[in-house]
Amino acid sequence: MYKFESIKLDKNHPQHLYVQLYKMIKELILLGHLKEADRLPPVRAMSKMLEINNVTVVKAYEILEKEGLVYKKIGSGTYISKQLINQLNEVDQESKQQTNIRSQLMEQGHIKVEKNMINFASATPSADLFPVEDFKQVLNEVLDRDKGYAFDYQEGQGYYQLRKILKDYIFHYGIKSEVENIQIISGAQQGIDIISKALVNYGDYVLIESPSYTGAMAAFNSRGAKMIDIPLQKDGLDLDILEKKIKTHKPRFIYVMPNFQNPTGISYSPGKKKELLKICKNYNMYIVEDDYLSDLNFYSEDNTTLKKLDEDELVIYIKSFSKIFMPGLRLGFLVIPSKLHENLLMAKHTTDISTSGLLQRAFELYLDKGIWQQHLKYMEDKYKERFVVMKESIKEYFPEYISYSLPLGGVNFWFKLPKGFSSKELYERSVVKNIIFAPGNLFFMNNNDEGYFRLSIAAVNPSEIKYGIKILSIVIREYIDKRRDQRNDSLIKPIL
Ligand SMILES: Cc1ncc(COP(=O)(O)O)c(C=O)c1O
Repeated sequence: MYKFESIKLDKNHPQHLYVQLYKMIKELILLGHLKEADRLPPVRAMSKMLEINNVTVVKAYEILEKEGLVYKKIGSGTYISKQLINQLNEVDQESKQQTNIRSQLMEQGHIKVEKNMINFASATPSADLFPVEDFKQVLNEVLDRDKGYAFDYQEGQGYYQLRKILKDYIFHYGIKSEVENIQIISGAQQGIDIISKALVNYGDYVLIESPSYTGAMAAFNSRGAKMIDIPLQKDGLDLDILEKKIKTHKPRFIYVMPNFQNPTGISYSPGKKKELLKICKNYNMYIVEDDYLSDLNFYSEDNTTLKKLDEDELVIYIKSFSKIFMPGLRLGFLVIPSKLHENLLMAKHTTDISTSGLLQRAFELYLDKGIWQQHLKYMEDKYKERFVVMKESIKEYFPEYISYSLPLGGVNFWFKLPKGFSSKELYERSVVKNIIFAPGNLFFMNNNDEGYFRLSIAAVNPSEIKYGIKILSIVIREYIDKRRDQRNDSLIKPIL
């Protein structure tokens, strides 16, 4: 009986007594105080001990039985069920396993997304924003028009008509290029990879921003490059450190995202863009510019690309459409300095011969018909709505000790927890509340957890953003305020 002495019912509580009793017995089971085959006190004994009537106890036992936590043996009594305890242990094991799987995935730069989660981790748009119907029409039109040719190998450099229309497209953004300097790629990731393949020999140095895009770091790593990271400041790279590193290491190139950088959302100031070009010209070093998002400019007065400012053919420009179109299409393009044309073409050829002809042709038609401009406008509006809600929610809910500086466009928001707190731990706490984000260590070469984290608005709608930020704020407060209280409690104080 002693195990049940901890049960205290509150007769003044609005919750029914039988519910209180059921919950307390369940807790004893879950905590392991009641074990398999232990017997519950007979109804009359329990009711006497708790000074309640028999019916209350019967009702509580009935719920426990319905849940499979106990079973009745006729003429003998009510016992704790074995099966369910095993199941509960399994659940516990499963959640431990899940934590292990999560951290293994995380080490590899992946995050498991369940259907009901609010996904601040993914920086690619949710499928409901894809222009499926419009694309179906251009696909059909291409099939009727080009028949089997659409399925032939294409020129390695890319379908000529597409390169031609892209030349005009980038001209609107101030980038002057010849059709010959445009190389179609199967997504920006492939672009980064073939640039490394063409330019990097094992052991060569490559400069990157710190923090940087994980996919690029992985590509450079896979080619045996030695990476050196240059700290990012609020207005772009630390140019003093950059120059020192160029002098000492003579790198092959620097990889940068000057507009709405991933993961920080930082944009380089116009001055720093120009200065970067000047330094690279002085040292005759290539710049790989990953323009994954300059189109999504909401409040910046300058989203100029380095390529637009490049008068010396120093910039290898990579354009991805994944954030504003459909990532699964695997389409993008490079604008290449003439000198590198052959090398890059060879690298592309040995990678996949050519990008899908059908998709290149359909995309060309999509651009040609002007549907692209409508879609771009649609995506800008959608993202801007999310952007505004995100900004407002952060201001409303986030505790003042979370540091951040708001981006002026794009989809990524970058935060820092107070010193000594871990974004991985915050992740573990928020994932159980069905909120996921990208812990900051993933974006640093040393993988150190310094409390940074990235929230992206690409895959969440405005109401999810508001709700998600509210819950995340609660999780943050629970993590940080409680831990601080504990730390304060255990302070070593002088005896006065
Ligand atoms: C900065 C950056 N570059 C490149 C890529 C890859 O883009 P794509 O889907 O075009 O290969 C991503 C994808 O998230 C990215 O964030």
